[in-house]
Amino acid sequence: MIEFYQSKWFDIDLCNVDENLNIKKLPDHSFYYKFYSILLERHSSYEQVKQHVLSCNQPAIKYLTDVISSKGYKNILSIGSGIGFIEYELAKNNPHVNFYANDFNIESYFLLGAASLDNIKLSSTLMKNVNYDLIYLNNVDYALSNQHYDDLLQQIRGLSNNGIVLSTVVFKEDLKIYSIIKNIFLKYFDRKSIFWGYIRSKKEHNQIIKNAGYKINNKILKKHHNILIMSEELK
Ligand SMILES: C[S@@+](CC[C@H](N)C(=O)[O-])C[C@H]1O[C@@H](n2cnc3c(N)ncnc32)[C@H](O)[C@@H]1O
Repeated sequence: MIEFYQSKWFDIDLCNVDENLNIKKLPDHSFYYKFYSILLERHSSYEQVKQHVLSCNQPAIKYLTDVISSKGYKNILSIGSGIGFIEYELAKNNPHVNFYANDFNIESYFLLGAASLDNIKLSSTLMKNVNYDLIYLNNVDYALSNQHYDDLLQQIRGLSNNGIVLSTVVFKEDLKIYSIIKNIFLKYFDRKSIFWGYIRSKKEHNQIIKNAGYKINNKILKKHHNILIMSEELK
């Protein structure tokens, strides 16, 4: 597993978001709350940030669209949904499907516009009283320590009928030499960078998934947009 560093996200200088963050501290709920508040101040509508998130989330949107239409799913939970870009795109094209979006302070993030659809339900806590057809985490694993990754997978055990989808997982094996050198530069020489998260190897993902009681049933491998489809193992 490697730690990786970042200086900007959505064109916002990350070092200015939270003075408590530094090169050693992983962003927490307070960081994401402050970050999304700045994003909201700079962009009043969802359409303004759409281009920024569209291309990198296409593989997940395509996979989820296909699986919703082929399997007739009705209740889908997204964990770590951020500003709700994916949920908005899916919900407007699938009005009969309920999308449950979970993130820290999700109600504030969604002010960007995605909350306007009736079939999107927001919550900052895990809603356990719904029988989910599918649960997905898009681009969230990087933000979790091994312990938090394992805890989260354990918490959602038993909540989904048809499994869990982890998408936009980046594998350490796919990093180009340029990205590795850039990461070293950001860590040691760019004073505006912060610790952003983790990139794990395939083996490390497999180990955490197995320890949390799941097995991987299928993989869609596309460099930086890998999708892992898994189900619970009987304990
Ligand atoms: C890169 S964003 C991804 C947002 C969205 N899923 C997407 O792909 O556009 C990562 C999100 O994970 C959320 N997050 C991090 N740790 C989390 C946790 N333990 N539970 C729920 N959300 C978490 C952050 O608040 C942030 O919004």
